[in-house]
Amino acid sequence: MSLLEFLSRGSAPDLGSERGVSCTGELPDPSDPALVDRAMVAKTALGSRLMILGHHYQRDEVIRFADITGDSFKLAQAAANNREAELIVFCGVHFMAESADILTSESQKVILPDLAAGCSMADMATQSQVAEAGRIFAELGISSSTIPVTYMNSSAAIKSFTGEHGGTICTSSNAERAMRWALEQGDRIFFLPDQHLGRNTAVRKLGLTLADCVIWNPWKDRGGLTDDEIHGAKVLLWRGHCSVHGRFTAKNVEDMRSQVPGIQILVHPECQYEVVSQADHVGSTEQIIKTIAEAPQGSSWAIGTELNLVRRLATENPGKNIHFLDKAICYCSTMNRIDLPHLVWALETLAKGRIVNQIKVDPVTAKFSRVALERMLALP
Ligand code: 13P
Ligand code: SF4
Repeated sequence: MSLLEFLSRGSAPDLGSERGVSCTGELPDPSDPALVDRAMVAKTALGSRLMILGHHYQRDEVIRFADITGDSFKLAQAAANNREAELIVFCGVHFMAESADILTSESQKVILPDLAAGCSMADMATQSQVAEAGRIFAELGISSSTIPVTYMNSSAAIKSFTGEHGGTICTSSNAERAMRWALEQGDRIFFLPDQHLGRNTAVRKLGLTLADCVIWNPWKDRGGLTDDEIHGAKVLLWRGHCSVHGRFTAKNVEDMRSQVPGIQILVHPECQYEVVSQADHVGSTEQIIKTIAEAPQGSSWAIGTELNLVRRLATENPGKNIHFLDKAICYCSTMNRIDLPHLVWALETLAKGRIVNQIKVDPVTAKFSRVALERMLALP
């Protein structure tokens, strides 16, 4: 395959999936020096009709245009609380835009500048796989005592399953509250799709043991578990993970400690249990930002999360010694799909009155997804 073919792959229409149905032939040239001005002109023209939401993992060139920046929880709240903006341009990934659509009113439109901005973790739990797990719980008579807690990083269809089966959504900032709530509603948690967030929260925050948590492998018959194992589990962990955070290792932590005396290790709870157990601090994206903002000048930190954010933290905190936990470059490639050319294209097209790349969840799926999301927003 030629380089050109390789690069243009993501923009070829593929109506059967969420990927690449976007702006073939219309995308501004990335080398156009007027891109920043063009984005500003289009944003100004749209005025109060527009709200741009930006996740912390977005590129610098994109995040500077966001009206509100945040982690997935804060952005879901921002969408739910805004009834004025008619157009919400979501600079993040597909599942976040779906959640914004579910939480906004019928007349508001959510736009994802590049439809190829998905999430590999969300893709690890499909509707049919989750429905099959639900069928097995019903057969075992444990449906009402098995409460789904679904990470925000999931498709609307999985959120809908969660709402319909008495469960809640969670994010990395409220997973502990969500899991405590779930154990008040039933005997066990069905946590999906991120096994690491589920395990880290269950063991480190709720005081459960590693043995209380068993893996539900969607690729194996009955999750790869015996009926006794399913009955005996406190937490059934879906076998999913983040391809970005899952890369950090305990060896990375060990190396950093030996290279930089006094360094503190700060990681996202999507990292593996071995990494989180050896870290000094664990927190959601917002908590990572707060921890660094409050850290004393001269302190040293190795951060295990997405690279755009870590680089920005290093730039914004010049008096602090900020390292990336891994030696290898580790961007979230799907978050990075939203770049300045896509943002300019989306804003200019909207300013001309054409709606593009709208994320619209069908009403049936939206109904129970909203129930699950609203349970999260109402968590004590
Ligand atoms: P936050 O919930 O911390 O925003 O994380 C979202 C995400 O995609 C992390 O990989
Ligand atoms: Fe998904 Fe991981 Fe990217 Fe977050 S960092 S959007 S979980 S692939």
